Amino acid sequence: MTSFHVPVLREKVFQYLVVKEEGLIVDGTLGNGGHTEYILKNTGPRLKVIGIDRDPSALEIAKKRLAPFGDRVQFAHGNYSEISDLLKKFNVDKIDGLLLDLGISSPQVDIAERGFSFMRNGPLDMRMDTTQEVTARHLLETLSDQELETIIKDYGEERYYRKIVRAVRKAQAINPITTTHQLSDILSGALYSKRLAKIHPATRTFQALRIAVNSELLHLKTALQNSLGVLGAGARLVTIAFHSLEDRIVKNFFRYEEKDCICPPRMPVCVCGKKPALKVLTKRALVADENEVTRNPRSSSAKMRVAERVYV
Ligand SMILES: C[S@@+](CC[C@H](N)C(=O)[O-])C[C@H]1O[C@@H](n2cnc3c(N)ncnc32)[C@H](O)[C@@H]1O
Repeated sequence: MTSFHVPVLREKVFQYLVVKEEGLIVDGTLGNGGHTEYILKNTGPRLKVIGIDRDPSALEIAKKRLAPFGDRVQFAHGNYSEISDLLKKFNVDKIDGLLLDLGISSPQVDIAERGFSFMRNGPLDMRMDTTQEVTARHLLETLSDQELETIIKDYGEERYYRKIVRAVRKAQAINPITTTHQLSDILSGALYSKRLAKIHPATRTFQALRIAVNSELLHLKTALQNSLGVLGAGARLVTIAFHSLEDRIVKNFFRYEEKDCICPPRMPVCVCGKKPALKVLTKRALVADENEVTRNPRSSSAKMRVAERVYV
């Protein structure tokens, strides 16, 4: 049974993202269209949305769900990191808001064939964009030991990365690893004595592979940078991150782009010419309240940050 994705921090996203009755909002992570549906329901005909997703099946679900809103919503299959190019196809160069609700959606996790979940047996796939070639299996088979160790260590924040790669190689010497359960069993065996009472032994390695397969951190960095070119004056940039690697990228980007000087402290006068591009509206990340976490446990790790585009 697959579930509809439940949008996280829906009311807060609306409150910060939509500040005018008219304009164009880009939902860069349309998913099942939950956030966009809420935005369209609570605004009038002069507020429009372009929804982007790299997952063709997510777009199909969203298209059906949002059909009642007619031409108030348009769709684009693509990567949010290419936001400027995607918007050109709609003859748009400036927008009033951008939402990046990062990570994966519930259907991506729940459908075994997508290969994201160690709880469900499926092919070792993990592609958000099913038109892309590289899968998790492909990475396990083509990366060197060192490359794989680095991915598991950096993207999974997994301290037993060497042990894991040794176990993977040992298993691959006998048979190719083609399914999520095969890999999960190998990880459980390798970390049996380490993780008995804590998180599932496969959690960190699966997160690492997913981030690597989809180049998630790289795309996020590029998208943030490119967003500056398309956000009009006063436009809002809203991000929701679900793990510290993503949240740190957003936090550091916001901090840097808010600065009006990056000269070394010893300089008597400013010579850098840096101008602030953003005003940060959330000094601390916003989080889900207890009610939301009870209703939707996935929201417990969500961190929402908001900035406003400024031109000085
Ligand atoms: C957490 S879900 C969004 C859920 C959505 N807000 C809703 O209410 O249904 C994240 C979505 O972003 C998409 N996604 C992730 N990285 C992307 C990228 N670089 N470019 C475009 N879409 C991306 C995923 O395919 C997924 O559908």
